[in-house]
Amino acid sequence: MFQAELQKRNLPDLFLCPDGTRVSDRAAWETQRAYWREVLLENEYGQLPPVVEPAVTVTVNPVTFAGKAVWETVRFTFSYGQKSHTVPTQLIYPRGAKGAPFFVMLNFRPDIPDRYLPVEEILDNGFGILTFCYQDVTSDDGDFSNGLAGVFAEGERRENSFGKITLWAYMAMRCMDYLETREEADIHRVAVAGHSRLGKTALLTAALDERFAASFSNNSGCSGAAISRGTCPDGETTKVIFERFPYWFCPRYERYVDDPTTLPFDQHALLALIAPRVVGVGAADEDHWADNDAQLLSCAAASPVWELYGKPGLIAPDRMPAIGDEHTDGALGFHMRAGSHYFSRTDWLVYMRTMNKHIVK
Ligand code: GCU
Repeated sequence: MFQAELQKRNLPDLFLCPDGTRVSDRAAWETQRAYWREVLLENEYGQLPPVVEPAVTVTVNPVTFAGKAVWETVRFTFSYGQKSHTVPTQLIYPRGAKGAPFFVMLNFRPDIPDRYLPVEEILDNGFGILTFCYQDVTSDDGDFSNGLAGVFAEGERRENSFGKITLWAYMAMRCMDYLETREEADIHRVAVAGHSRLGKTALLTAALDERFAASFSNNSGCSGAAISRGTCPDGETTKVIFERFPYWFCPRYERYVDDPTTLPFDQHALLALIAPRVVGVGAADEDHWADNDAQLLSCAAASPVWELYGKPGLIAPDRMPAIGDEHTDGALGFHMRAGSHYFSRTDWLVYMRTMNKHIVK
């Protein structure tokens, strides 16, 4: 079924090189990988700002989580040219942790805990967390003068200038830089996670930064995990997402959005950039807007890249998603729970099981 559905959608061939040759081994894929990275940055998300080393200040918060954990507020101040901006983040880890696996979690709110972030349960499973509120990086609107958008503003936006998703991903990468300085974290076992627009961001983060061992993309849908060709009738299309949220993307995306068959890529390329590392694509049965079939098909289309590395990608029955699916035996995982569009505890349990199966062991 996957192959028939994918054939109808006629996605760009991940292995077809610009010079007309085809990728047949890992070395050739590394070159092709760099090509897809540029294609996505130039045409969809926009280029990253330069890496700036922030000044960091740390405040330890009062004892919380029944004394089991340490919670620090870590503020990153980015200065570039005449401008600077401070982003607060929250670092929480099991007391006494050394070399613990970690989640960098992009969230909608700064709260600890938060309804999308069951902190105590994550800690009890042995993971640390470094999280920030995305709007503390830059606002979720078309204003490119505030936060990191303002710090890195280049005057008039160009065709390939960063959209907001790229800036939120940039901050997640700076979190990884910081974790490299902390003995509580094992930097080889860090995952990035987010929901919806921040699930799109979690995929882009790991796609661009190979230090992340895993990416968990919850209900990310259009311009995230879901392929854009052949959206289901009640699913979000590239046209609609660009009408409502043009600032999430680079201006050049507009050229293609009315007709996704003109896109020089599809979203399976975003997943493929993360291979052979671990990916978890989370779907919710009632979340038709995120197009669950298109998310699973995207995994099926990207899977051969994992196989090139001699690792199983998607291991799943050859049918569309059903409630209760948890296909995480391969490194490219997919699950679908009952219910609507949100980051549930059930999703977290799947992502932690996936980490334990493939990375923590
Ligand atoms: C809107 C948008 C989606 C996005 C979602 C979210 O529904 O259309 O693309 O994923 O917001 O971030 O919650």
